Amino acid sequence: MSVTDKRAPGVRISDLSVVYRTQAGELPAVRGVDLELVPGTITGVVGESGSGKSTLALSLLNAVQPPGRISSGSVEIDGLGDVVSLTGDNLRKARGRHVGYVFQAAQNSLNPLKTVGKQLLDLGRSHDVDDLPGLVKEARSLLDRMGMDGARVLDSHQHELSGGMRQRVGIMLALVLNAHIVVLDEPTTALDMITQATILRIIREVHEERGLTTLVITHDLGVVAEIADRLAVMYGGRLVEQGPTREVLGAPKHPYTRGLLQAIPRLVGDIDEARALPGRPPTLGTIPPDGCVFRERCAVRMDVCETGEPPVLTIGPRIVACHAEAGEREPESEPAEEPEKETVTTGPVRGEEQA
Ligand SMILES: Nc1ncnc2c1ncn2[C@@H]1O[C@H](COP(=O)(O)OP(=O)(O)OP(=O)(O)O)[C@@H](O)[C@H]1O
Ligand SMILES: [Mg+2]
Repeated sequence: MSVTDKRAPGVRISDLSVVYRTQAGELPAVRGVDLELVPGTITGVVGESGSGKSTLALSLLNAVQPPGRISSGSVEIDGLGDVVSLTGDNLRKARGRHVGYVFQAAQNSLNPLKTVGKQLLDLGRSHDVDDLPGLVKEARSLLDRMGMDGARVLDSHQHELSGGMRQRVGIMLALVLNAHIVVLDEPTTALDMITQATILRIIREVHEERGLTTLVITHDLGVVAEIADRLAVMYGGRLVEQGPTREVLGAPKHPYTRGLLQAIPRLVGDIDEARALPGRPPTLGTIPPDGCVFRERCAVRMDVCETGEPPVLTIGPRIVACHAEAGEREPESEPAEEPEKETVTTGPVRGEEQA
């Protein structure tokens, strides 16, 4: 972890839930998420498609759009307060200035009628940037660092750039206003492996130079292994496991995290070693209302998983929500449902990994 800049604000997401209105009523996409983004660290959120990662990322800017809405919880950003209650101009200013954001599929979100440079100036003006030439210089330098001809890219329209180039433009736009919190949603999906490695290295460099608080959302465990200090694993709208990346990937505690890791095909070795998780991840309408959200696919499922919400266990710097893990830590003589254990917390995550 590098805390090079004490100005970087921390973010505390507490008991956050988001629902989408559908014909079947309001369905949960994010449920009771507690997550702390520690200043100066990169937090990675991984999970399968539809697990709620982008919805969680949008909540950080209070940018969930109808038919979605934040139904409960808070997102406290140091110096800004709870963004869930920000509105109007205050909210618009917070986006961009305080929180830089790359949307998923950012490569498709540029305006086709304007050059990248023109869009950059629009962005600067909408955030009252006085030094527009300075902004252009910074943009050019970021694009150059990401292996492109920055001046040429600023002069280009979207159709003149490849998908991977547009994705890097998206990253530049998230970084150029010098926000201290940066949220990157699938920042490297359109990139080949070599370019991906370069871009991840540059994101890490900029993060360290500026001492940012960074959130990277991805379905790719390789990306988080490469870049994230801390890792949060999402399934069916819930965070099932969190902790320092190396510890979580080195010794996963939640059966879902173990399944994800086993499903990665190795470049070298027997291809049969990669085992896909059985079944499918839940969709909005099929997330079970009670009990453990992962139980249908779980190899260590127990009766209690059907109805009981998994206890949230804090084990050193790690957090895991699992009945089986709770059982493992339970002394034989104590009943499994005893709630008053030191290691069991149901409150938000606090203060772990403060160096
Ligand atoms: N506008 C919407 N209307 C209805 N349901 C939505 C909407 N946006 C997302 N959802 C649903 O919410 C759930 C979470 O979606 P989200 O985009 O957050 O997942 P994700 O983890 O980012 O997936 P991916 O890896 O595919 O990007 C999914 O079941 C999705 O179908
Ligand atoms: Mg997404």
